[in-house]
Amino acid sequence: MTGATDLTELVDAIRKAPAYRRIEPGLVARLAGAELSKGRTFKEAVKAVRGKLHQVAGAYLADGLELDAWAAELALLSHDRHDPALRAWCQSKMSQHASTRERLPTLAEFYAQTLAGLGALHSILDLGCGLNPLALPWMNLAPDAAYYGCDLYGDLAGFGDAFRQHLGLGGAVVTSDLTTAIPNQPVQLALALKLIPCLEQLDKTIGSRLLTGVNTEHLLVSFPARSLGGRAKGMGRTYESHFLELTAGQDWQVQRFAFPNELAFLLSRPRMEPA
Ligand SMILES: C[S@@+](CC[C@H](N)C(=O)[O-])C[C@H]1O[C@@H](n2cnc3c(N)ncnc32)[C@H](O)[C@@H]1O
Repeated sequence: MTGATDLTELVDAIRKAPAYRRIEPGLVARLAGAELSKGRTFKEAVKAVRGKLHQVAGAYLADGLELDAWAAELALLSHDRHDPALRAWCQSKMSQHASTRERLPTLAEFYAQTLAGLGALHSILDLGCGLNPLALPWMNLAPDAAYYGCDLYGDLAGFGDAFRQHLGLGGAVVTSDLTTAIPNQPVQLALALKLIPCLEQLDKTIGSRLLTGVNTEHLLVSFPARSLGGRAKGMGRTYESHFLELTAGQDWQVQRFAFPNELAFLLSRPRMEPA
């Protein structure tokens, strides 16, 4: 058996379980290759890669999301993002991903407070979006708004894209691994919500690469203030010092917002004074 055959078989074996089938295949191959090069057996490598993928993405998702059924339900709902029935439906679906579920109690305040100074949004890039496209009705969108997003999960990205289209927004939500490619299209606002700690489990350099690589006027970065199990354990303080390290020496203007479950920072490029 050649190394390449080993790797292909290993990737197929990892992706056989439904929980890992929709994850961006390039990342699965990269992690699988790294395990093989450490001399792990096939079985050990399957276990190690699945464990890492669970930590990075799977742990946040409820089991067995019925995204096709959600798409069918969505088709029967209003296209108006102010419609109460559409908003109630969005909230019920956002409860299926830990990150959006934790934000639900303060969803309206979260976006109203953090984005207050930005006016109507013309373009948004939501990095590692999960189910956050469903929060678009709570953002102040301009009539011509475009929403770009990405996630490691192909099915979440596909669903996010269907929701974007349902609201009549431009843009695209795609499947991608941010540790290998950071989108560089210019936008008014990029979101990196509770994302950096996940990405750093794959690549320790990604936090600073992300902050310098995105082509945006404003970047809303957040960190969880509690673990998935609900314990605070000084997480906010730890992440805040990490954020300060990541932004040291950069010329962003920074505003800080503390919510019960989330610590957020709005980074804005300094305004150029007229000559
Ligand atoms: C903690 S969740 C945050 C989700 C969303 N930003 C929010 O706050 O509601 C992290 C998200 O990033 C995605 N993710 C993890 N690693 C990624 C990677 N390398 N590239 C793209 N997305 C990734 C996961 O699938 C998951 O949806």
